[in-house]
Amino acid sequence: MILMTGATGALGRLVAARLTGRDDVVIGSRAPEAVPAGMPSRLIDFEDPASLEEGFAGVDTLLLISAGYGEDDVVIARHGAAIEAAEKAGVSHIVYTSLSAAGDHLAYALAHRWTERRLREGTANWTILRNGLYAELLATLAPVVDGRITAPLGSGRLAAVAREDLADVAALVATDASAHAARTYELVGEEAVGGAELAAALTEATGSTVSYEPSTLAEAREAFTALGLASFQVPMLVGTYSSIANGFMDGTDGDLRSLLGTAPRSALEIIAGKSSR
Ligand SMILES: NC(=O)c1ccc[n+]([C@@H]2O[C@H](COP(=O)([O-])OP(=O)(O)OC[C@H]3O[C@@H](n4cnc5c(N)ncnc54)[C@H](OP(=O)(O)O)[C@@H]3O)[C@@H](O)[C@H]2O)c1
Repeated sequence: MILMTGATGALGRLVAARLTGRDDVVIGSRAPEAVPAGMPSRLIDFEDPASLEEGFAGVDTLLLISAGYGEDDVVIARHGAAIEAAEKAGVSHIVYTSLSAAGDHLAYALAHRWTERRLREGTANWTILRNGLYAELLATLAPVVDGRITAPLGSGRLAAVAREDLADVAALVATDASAHAARTYELVGEEAVGGAELAAALTEATGSTVSYEPSTLAEAREAFTALGLASFQVPMLVGTYSSIANGFMDGTDGDLRSLLGTAPRSALEIIAGKSSR
């Protein structure tokens, strides 16, 4: 039996849709009542040990979708509890959605690397899916306001990847896990996208001129702080801009195309709202 966690998240929903109709899949979530009808579901909350003990019973392969919003100690405790419970329940293979190697400078990388190390040192077989930053995230980080994109991306670019492509890979690896044992896959997009490319694509898609006028990290920090975000979120977001702006996130070499068996979706088309798949 395959069990996936996090089924109501943006990525989890896409993965669950791909697993629909299989009789060897159970969908796990903190909100099992919100899982699409017709799929067996279980309560899985990494902060609720009883849910893990019951939820992982009889499971062979666990697709562990990272639960990444929080301070490192919170996220590490969640992932550590999930892995420990899976091992105790006799889960033979854990597939984990991590962060691309290019993301090592990001504030949220540490908890992912901790989880990877825990898996490598653990007793279950493992596969690590190192997801690049989503095209959909870039759209949020660089919104158009009054015809202008003013994100602090400098001249940096991001090898943004479609969530749909990452869901395709997660579903295919989870359903054939033994073929991917002890593999760490780098799942980044094949086109690096920056402010200038975004502005050009959005100009073309909308028919009205969109310009790119980079702001500063200090301006972004001030704006996020004014929004009243949780304190850990501000350095996460500002650090994401800084990593992109300083050229750490534009590498396009990876395993996405070979795992998909086809060309990845276009990040620019997704952001411009005209993805063809
Ligand atoms: N590559 C990127 O650009 C990027 C961007 C943002 C986040 N991420 C990471 O990738 C993950 C999935 O991305 P997403 O876009 O789907 O994020 P999302 O929509 O915010 O989903 C958050 C996910 O965390 C799960 N979760 C939260 N707390 C949990 C807990 N206590 N126990 C079990 N699961 C818990 C949720 O599952 P349920 O509520 O269904 O239980 C849900 O799947 C995130 O959690 C984060 O670690 C990656």
